[in-house]
Parts: sequence; structure tokens; C-alpha cells
Amino acid sequence: MNSPVMQGLDLKIPSFVKNASLIAWVADMAALTQPDTIYWCDGSEEEYARLCQQLVDAGTFKNLNPAKRPNSFLAWSDPSDVARVEDRTFICCEKKENAGPTNNWMAPADMREKLQFGTASEKALFNGCMKGRTMYVVPFSMGPLGSPIAHIGIELSDSPYVAVNMKIMTRMGKAVYDVLGDGLDGKGEFVPCVHTVGAPLAAGQADVKWPCNPTKYIVHYPETREIWSYGSGYGGNALLGKKCFALRIASNMGKAASQAASDTGAGNPGWLAEHMLILGVTKPALAGQPAKKYHVAAAFPSACGKTNFSMLVPPAGFDGWKVTTIGDDIAWIKPGVDGKLHAINPEAGYFGVAPGTNMLTNPNCMLSLNKDVIFTNVALTDDADVWWEGMEHDSGSLPAHLIDWQGNDWTPESAKLMDANGKPTGKLRAAAHPNSRFTVAATNNPALDSAWDDPKGVAIDAFIFGGRRSTTVPLVTEARNWTEGVYMAATMGSETTAAAAGQQGIVRRDPFAMLPFVGYNMSDYFQHWLGMGEQLAKSGAKLPSIYCVNWFRKGDDGKFVWPGYGENMRVLKWMIDRIEGIAPGQENLFGISPAYTEITWTGLDFTAAQFNTVTSIDTAAWRDEFKLHTELFGQLAYHLPKALEDTRAKLEARLAA
Ligand code: OXD
Ligand code: MN
Repeated sequence: MNSPVMQGLDLKIPSFVKNASLIAWVADMAALTQPDTIYWCDGSEEEYARLCQQLVDAGTFKNLNPAKRPNSFLAWSDPSDVARVEDRTFICCEKKENAGPTNNWMAPADMREKLQFGTASEKALFNGCMKGRTMYVVPFSMGPLGSPIAHIGIELSDSPYVAVNMKIMTRMGKAVYDVLGDGLDGKGEFVPCVHTVGAPLAAGQADVKWPCNPTKYIVHYPETREIWSYGSGYGGNALLGKKCFALRIASNMGKAASQAASDTGAGNPGWLAEHMLILGVTKPALAGQPAKKYHVAAAFPSACGKTNFSMLVPPAGFDGWKVTTIGDDIAWIKPGVDGKLHAINPEAGYFGVAPGTNMLTNPNCMLSLNKDVIFTNVALTDDADVWWEGMEHDSGSLPAHLIDWQGNDWTPESAKLMDANGKPTGKLRAAAHPNSRFTVAATNNPALDSAWDDPKGVAIDAFIFGGRRSTTVPLVTEARNWTEGVYMAATMGSETTAAAAGQQGIVRRDPFAMLPFVGYNMSDYFQHWLGMGEQLAKSGAKLPSIYCVNWFRKGDDGKFVWPGYGENMRVLKWMIDRIEGIAPGQENLFGISPAYTEITWTGLDFTAAQFNTVTSIDTAAWRDEFKLHTELFGQLAYHLPKALEDTRAKLEARLAA
């Protein structure tokens, strides 16, 4: 080991780390945060096992029953640290208008003062924030290592929980240092990510199982491509490769790569970083036609079923059809040399919502979770296994006893929730937190697509945008053209879920399911999508079709009408029929929708009347919906593309006609 000592701290640089700017940055950050020691992760299995054992010894992890779930662990977070904190997430670019009205903004100099430099009267939050702790240097690649579309990040974190989760969620380890090289050739760029739980330990102070700080800052500096995260150890707040890098910083990178097309049509459309699953769907050989595979990228807000959709098992009646997973949460999409849009999944694992997952809703996911999993905030069974709401579907009954995610006894009797008069409401206190998660490697997924790791990505045939709406939005609509598709995605609304802190079930506009994730001005992001379409069309490429879906419409009884899950295959098949020119579809106000007879119903009893309930367009509801679109456009007026305003006017005129 080559071990320069910085201000009394041995940097402990392993011989495989050679990049001078990386070493200098780690030294600077160590001087600022003052950890007791530094550990450079190598990503080995031995290291993973050692850090997990360390977490078990510290009480952060519980070992799960090795006979039931080998090599798996359960963590319970602090009850105050259970979800992404959108109101504490900042885009700190020089000009406020470049962050736009949908992001929290602070001037970089002011934010740096708060986090990094301090003032005469106030110490910076990161100053000494790692005292008493180890700083883990976590090298990771988003995308296949060394591929031209991958990007490297280095996360410095004082949380070993983060280090082991990053091992699953990214390509993490020594090979990343090799790709960085010594940096002397001008290569070796990385996105610096600094994370602290914000809980320094005084000498001799005992640690808690889930250290965190009530003050939280999730900060992005797009111009210098840096991420600084303070105070949370949970999910997207702390695993910085995911939302912070692969969406907020990467969306800036993709936009920055674009240049306007010249008169000759030449230009660079840049690329897209999207909150999308990517799946492959194989249509079997039929009537002399060979089997054919299509690829779809689909955007849904957090906790709206992306993981389920990406692992869909086709229902009875779809013999030979196959759905395979490329990714379940994030897609990086770039034009390929063939002029098509190619998508890769920059992640290597799934950080999925546990409640609701079972053998009916997502059998492939349940099978993925049989071993090598980190669970966070689910309940513990008496035989040291895990449980969450929805698992009673598989066992046929509720467990007689559990320890809930906060460490309390839970029985079906003691969990009964009472109304104000002390009468049972028929509901039970949840044993697992609604945003409880599993972290598992993609390679555990039995439905993993053979191209999931292919640096070339897969050519996208269709984009799907879906929100959670109990009313108004029909089951499926195909946009008539790219601009109308961008309009549908831009104006999408969805009921809020437990994935973000705050009130649930409120309809909010969530353009492209990217409201919390676009790292720059939303109107410029719309323009980036429109520009991408224009430039691809000019080059003669066939643009992917765009669909808007809603699986969540409810009937008068308050229950979902569409059965969802595997049955979504029926909608997927209709889309493929459209792409192949088999389904004529029918024009409605906003685009093309299926006639009842165009959907394959084999194996499902779903009447034309039920179909009407999920597809009908209520003119009065849409008049109100357009008011919300107008409100959104008012909010996004700065740089709002005229094409979107024009589209709204056209659609409203159609509604009024
Ligand atoms: C996620 C989210 O964790 O969207 O994927 O919140
Ligand atoms: Mn997500």
C-alpha cells in the first residue's frame, strides 16, 4: 500500500488505485469530513460478506433464515428516514431558470457555503460529518463497464449499508479503477458523489443501528456534475448512482450532448435519461411467420408497477409469448447508427417496493428474492424470514405473529385499526412500511433478457407512459404522432405514493414520470424530447410509437376494474398488433384506442361493459383535466415549447366540437 498521510489521516490508497485526480479529491473530502479511517471498496464477494457481517454485528442487519433465504439480510431504518425527500432535493445550477419551477434551487455558492465551506458564524454541514466513522470509497459504473455508453461515479459514503447496496445496484469494484486508469491521458472522468448520514460520533460514543440526521440535503450541481447528499441513509437519497446520477445528472449530460440540427439536417440529438423500465416481448412464430421480438420502454411514477410490468408473465391464452426484463427503473436512450433509439439499463440490480409483490402480481420477482437479498423495512417472521402485505395471497392466510418494521409485535388481532368510536375499520396496521424495499441483483431474475448487459442496448419500438388515475384517463391510447405523444407524456398526472415523503393519493402532474428526476428546466426537457423526434425523423428513422396507459381506473365500488399484472399483456399485444399494422384501432379525441374486439380476451372474462368502464372518455372530466394542463403550462411558461401549447389548443378544440 502506498499511504500518503493527509492532516494526520492515512489515506490507505491500495496499489490498484492510480488516478491522481481521484486520489486528490478523496484527500480533500477526507480533510473536510474527517473520518476516522478510509476504506477503498474492491467489490469482491469476500468484501461484501465482510461488510454484511459488520452490519449484522452493529445490529443494522439481521441475518435471515439461511434455510429459507440464503445470504439475505433485513435492515430497519430510523422511522424518520423511509423515503426519498423531494422537498430536500436541490438542483444547484448557476441560473435559477435552468433548474426551472419544478425543482428546488439554490445558487451553487450559497449551497457550497452551507454544505462545504461554512461561514464565520456557521460551520459547514460536511465539516467533520464523518468523525468516528469510516469513509467508504465506492467505485461504480452505470452501464456495462468500459462500454462507450457507460459512465463512472465514485461515491464516498460513511454508510456500510450504502456500500453493500451499491455492490448490488451497480457494477461496483476494482475494475472501475482500472477503467479510470491514472488519468494522465486526460481520460478517467468520474462523477464525484459525496454522501454522509450526518451523524458524527464523539470519542467513545455508541452508534445507533440506523444513523441519520433530521436535516437533509440531496444536492446536485449540474454544471460541475457533482452530487452531495446529507442526512439520509435511505434509497434514492443515499444510493447516489440511481436517481441522483442516472437521472438528475445524466439528464443534464444527455441534454448537453445535443446540438441543433443544421440546414443539412445534421446535428446531434443528444440522449435521454429516463425513469423507464425496458422489456423485451417475443411474439411466437405464427401462421408461417417467424417469431419476432420487440422492445418497449415504459415510464410510470414511483411505486406504480414498473418492476411488475418489466417481469410480466403472459396469461393463459398467450402460448409462446415471452416477456423478458432489460431494466425495471431507469433507461439511458441514445440514437444508434441504425437511426433507431437504443436503450440500456444503467443499473445492475433492482431496488423494488416489496408490499403488493406476490406470486400473482409478480412471480418472477418473488423467485428473484429467494436468495442474496437485502430487505429494508419489511416485517420479520418468527422463523427469521421476511413478510410484507400481499404475501398472504401466497400462503392463504395472515401470519399469526410478526415483528413489524419498527420492531413491535404484530398479530392480526393487535393490528386491527379502530375508528374514532373504537370500532374496527376492517383495516390492519401495516407490518411492512409501504415503501419497504428489496435490493437484489438483476442476475437473480429468471426472466432476465439475454441482452440486458449488452453495451449496444436494445432498439426501442414503443414508449409507454402511465399514471395512477382512478378516473378520467383511459386504459390505452396511441398518440397519432410524436408531438402528441410528447404532449400526453408531458401532461400526465398521477396519484402520489409512499415512495416519496408526503401526502399520498393526491393527483399531481408528473410529466414523463420524471417530476422528481429531471435535473434541469422541465420545459427545456420537453423541447429536448421534441428535438430528438425532429432530428430522428429528418434522418429518415422510424420513430417509436408512443402510448399512454392507465391500469388504475376504479369502478363505482371503488375497486380497480382492469385486473392488471399479467393481464397487461393483452394491452401490450394490441400495441404490437398496431406496430405490425394488424389492429386498425379507432380514433378518439386524443389518439387511437382499441375496439373491444381488437383485444385478445382468451382466458379472461372481461365484458364489453367493463371494457367501456376503463376506456370511456368523460367529456366533463376531460374539460377539467385540460384546465389542469393549462395550469401546468402556466407554471412551465418559461421556454415552454410552442408545439405543446398548439397541441393543447387543438385537442381542446376537438373536445369542444
Ligand atoms: C425508486 C423510486 O426507488 O422511483 O425507484 O422511488
Ligand atoms: Mn423509480
